Amino acid sequence: MSEENRRYALAERPEGLIDDSTFTLETGPVPGIGEGEALVKVKWISIDPTNRTWIGEEPTYLPPVQIGETMRALGLGEVIESNNDNFPVGSLVNGLTGWSEYTLISDSNPLMVVPEAAKTAPPASLLGILGMTGCTAYFGMLEIGDPQEGETVVVSAAAGAVGTVAGQLAKLRGARVVGIAGGPGKCAWIVDELGFDAAVDYKANDWKQQLKDATPDGIDVDFENVGGEIMNQVFGRLNINARVALCGLISGYNATDRPPDLTNFHKLLINRVRLQGFIILDYYARFGEAIRELSEWVSQGKLKSEQTVVEGFENLPDALNMLFKGENKGKLVVRISD
Ligand SMILES: NC(=O)c1ccc[n+]([C@@H]2O[C@H](COP(=O)([O-])OP(=O)(O)OC[C@H]3O[C@@H](n4cnc5c(N)ncnc54)[C@H](OP(=O)(O)O)[C@@H]3O)[C@@H](O)[C@H]2O)c1
Repeated sequence: MSEENRRYALAERPEGLIDDSTFTLETGPVPGIGEGEALVKVKWISIDPTNRTWIGEEPTYLPPVQIGETMRALGLGEVIESNNDNFPVGSLVNGLTGWSEYTLISDSNPLMVVPEAAKTAPPASLLGILGMTGCTAYFGMLEIGDPQEGETVVVSAAAGAVGTVAGQLAKLRGARVVGIAGGPGKCAWIVDELGFDAAVDYKANDWKQQLKDATPDGIDVDFENVGGEIMNQVFGRLNINARVALCGLISGYNATDRPPDLTNFHKLLINRVRLQGFIILDYYARFGEAIRELSEWVSQGKLKSEQTVVEGFENLPDALNMLFKGENKGKLVVRISD
């Protein structure tokens, strides 16, 4: 293999948004395969808010990426050389490819072969609605939030990858769904295109009033993606026996200051609220069941999916910052190669 491999290595831990000094772009030989290994040409890389949490000092549900290591990320690629019958040449695989143009499948990095039935789906949606993102919305909304017909559900970061799916799933359950998103364009889109019942533009001065107006009967399910003052205001409107599916706290991922006080935290006690944080990796064994059902709903036109595609390996760092500037609609992916 004469071609070269480019990878982004972590150079220093960022404070706030990542910048030019966070990663170094390194070029080296394409890795050779050993016994039982396979070589993958990476085609798509998933950009996820959790990528930012992996490069902080503090361990999360995975150990931090170490200085000099390839940036960790989910991706999709094709096996181009193989010493492993489970990964024949030509197989489409997904898993932790990292920010690298080529990656090895080995005992320490087992990727998953994309099932035959899913291969007809657009590749970017295999990282989105039919991948980890869709599963997060599926288990978080349907099992933890568990919305019932007629209940009021609020979804924050509602125009993003997980939020778009979570909101539509609650609609399928017959709930009244309110999305919180940044800007009038995204708010109109989730209502007009995705069928949310109402939207709250948290960037508008009157957003707290908008939240009250959109939830006249209070809130039964909070699918929480953001945290901070948005979560605090939602907590203030939770009904008796409400559920909070605590999926993410994106407003804090780049924060250098202490988060603001949750002045409405007492509502959880007064109203007997059940709050459950969850990490989707814990549901890995059940991904098949979720993806089967999500695929059916997509093919029946009951669920819509949207992707924002950034072109080119060299744009990975800028793409990660897009999530924190609200520059994506639906799932954000980077196309690496054809
Ligand atoms: N628990 C799990 O296993 C799991 C798995 C996947 C994702 N997640 C979490 O789910 C959440 C959504 O992830 P995603 O992949 O679907 O990303 P995403 O929603 O597609 O992208 C992030 C969106 O968050 C919004 N945002 C960014 N900074 C914000 C801030 N300070 N305040 C309010 N909104 C802000 C932006 O939309 P606006 O334009 O509307 O601001 C942005 O488009 C994240 O918190 C993520 O960590 C959790």
